[in-house]
Amino acid sequence: MVEEILEVLPLRPGAVVVDGTLGLGGHTSRFVELIKPAGVLIGLDWDESMLALARERLSDVQDVELHLEHRDFRSIGESLTEHKLQADGILLDLGLNSAQVDDPTRGMSFREEGPLDMRMDRTKGEPAAAMLNRMSPAQIEQILWDFGDERWAKAIAKQIVERRKRTPLQKTSDLVDSVLAAIPAKARDKRIHPATRTFQAVRIAVNGELEGLEEALEQAAACLAPEGVLAVLSYHSGEDRTVKHVFRRLDGEGFSDLLRKPQTPSDEEVRRNPRARSAKLRALKRTTP
Ligand SMILES: C[S@@+](CC[C@H](N)C(=O)[O-])C[C@H]1O[C@@H](n2cnc3c(N)ncnc32)[C@H](O)[C@@H]1O
Repeated sequence: MVEEILEVLPLRPGAVVVDGTLGLGGHTSRFVELIKPAGVLIGLDWDESMLALARERLSDVQDVELHLEHRDFRSIGESLTEHKLQADGILLDLGLNSAQVDDPTRGMSFREEGPLDMRMDRTKGEPAAAMLNRMSPAQIEQILWDFGDERWAKAIAKQIVERRKRTPLQKTSDLVDSVLAAIPAKARDKRIHPATRTFQAVRIAVNGELEGLEEALEQAAACLAPEGVLAVLSYHSGEDRTVKHVFRRLDGEGFSDLLRKPQTPSDEEVRRNPRARSAKLRALKRTTP
């Protein structure tokens, strides 16, 4: 939804922009063209391997001050304070990049055999296998339900616990097999792989993706310069609910909720990129200093 984002963000020569979820730098490479000369672009990602790829891709950017930082966007305020700047535009394109999903060593894909890790920042935290080998059945059921809207959560949690009694979970296929053993063939949704919701839920739990999102959005809004805009692209109902809730609360309190109804991708975009099917764009503008 690049065009929609370019429409809501006030990108002009000299603007200060934060891409809080740099990924491969796709959005950033469009932003730098619009803010030069003299613009500042701060790109953040908590995944070192994404940062390395983005650095390579953006190596020939000129006429823009570019800062690429290994940082969780939940500390966006610290970054802007260090640079003594306020932002004219902030983008949070939540979730994960297809390069992360497609890398079998990350364990994020049910299609690829690999270690059941799923951490975005591999320098810290607990891999998915350790988390699932430790949690109680009720805790597993809860995350599958809360973060995956998985109605077979109880049965899948039971299968995981049965399986780990024999051998602890280690690989992506251990989780896929637990899901397949839990959901009867007749009850499976033909449009998506049966393990889609489970992998999404476990990834969100491993990375604490929804924890502190509300505070992060408030912090990002507080970092905006007058007339500055915070745009958020989310892919999961839990994330979008949080964004909607925060933007509605700030609306009229020095901010304006620009899109009362979130923008969604066109049919054409979904055909080109099926992973965009659940995307929702919301935007918040600072109206008073
Ligand atoms: C959907 S991708 C962004 C794609 C990017 N807009 C592009 O054009 O290539 C999300 C990226 O945000 C990163 N990310 C997700 N949550 C983050 C967080 N809390 N802090 C920093 N980076 C985060 C992921 O590692 C991933 O690289």
